[in-house]
Amino acid sequence: MSATPLPIAVLASGEGTNLQALLDAQRESRLPITVVGVFGDKPAARALERARRCGVVAEAIEPRAYSDRASYDEALFARVASVAPGLVVCAGYMRLISAAIVEHWVGRMINIHPSLLPKYQGLRTHQRALAAGDREHGASVHFVTPELDGGPVVSRVVVEVREHDTPEALAHRLLPHEHRLLLATIALIARRYVTATPLGITIDGRLLHEPLTLAPDDYLYDAAGFVA
Ligand code: GRF
Repeated sequence: MSATPLPIAVLASGEGTNLQALLDAQRESRLPITVVGVFGDKPAARALERARRCGVVAEAIEPRAYSDRASYDEALFARVASVAPGLVVCAGYMRLISAAIVEHWVGRMINIHPSLLPKYQGLRTHQRALAAGDREHGASVHFVTPELDGGPVVSRVVVEVREHDTPEALAHRLLPHEHRLLLATIALIARRYVTATPLGITIDGRLLHEPLTLAPDDYLYDAAGFVA
C-alpha cells in the first residue's frame, strides 16, 4: 500500500456528485487520495462550488475564449498540470479531449461513463439502453484514449432495468452505484494495484482480460475471484 495519498485532479461540467463522493471519501479518510484541483468548462457548474466549499481550487476555463479545441485543451490542461495530479478523473466532463492531450495523459486519466461499455459510447446512454430493451444497464470506469469512451475498461457496475423505467429513473438509480464504482476503482489505482500498460490493464501485475465487476459489498472481482 503506498503511503502517500494519490493527488487527483477532477474534470467536471455539471452537478459534480461523483466529485462529491471523492471529496467525502477523502474527508472521511476512506480513500488514500487528495483532490488537488477541479477544472471544467462551465463557470456555473455545481461541481466547482462543491470543490470550493471543501477548500479545493476550482477553475472554469471558458471555451469561447479559444479559437479551437486544441488551444482550449492546451490551456485547460496547463491548469490541470499546475496542480501536479497523479491521476486525472473525468467525472461528468462533457467535452471531447483532443488526441494530443489524451496521449500525454494516457494511463493517468480515467473517465466514468454511464453504460456497460463498449455498449452505448457517447450520450443518452439510459435512453438507448431502454430503447434496446436491455434487461441490464450500468456504468464503467475506463482509461481515457483518443476514442470517445473507447479506452480499456477497468471496472463496471451492473444494475437491473425495471419494467417501467424512464431514462431519468434509470439514471437516478444508477448514480449512487457510479459513486461506489468510482471510489472502489480509484482505491485500486491509489494503491498502485491497477496500472495501464501498452499491453493493457494490469491488476497487481496480472493482465486484466475483462473488466472487474463491483459486488454489492463494494469489492471488485474478476473471473478468478475477489481482487480487492
Ligand atoms: C453521471 O451519470 C456520469 O456518469 C456522467 O455524468 C453524470 C453526472 O455526473 N458522466 P456528476 O453528478 O456530475 O458527477
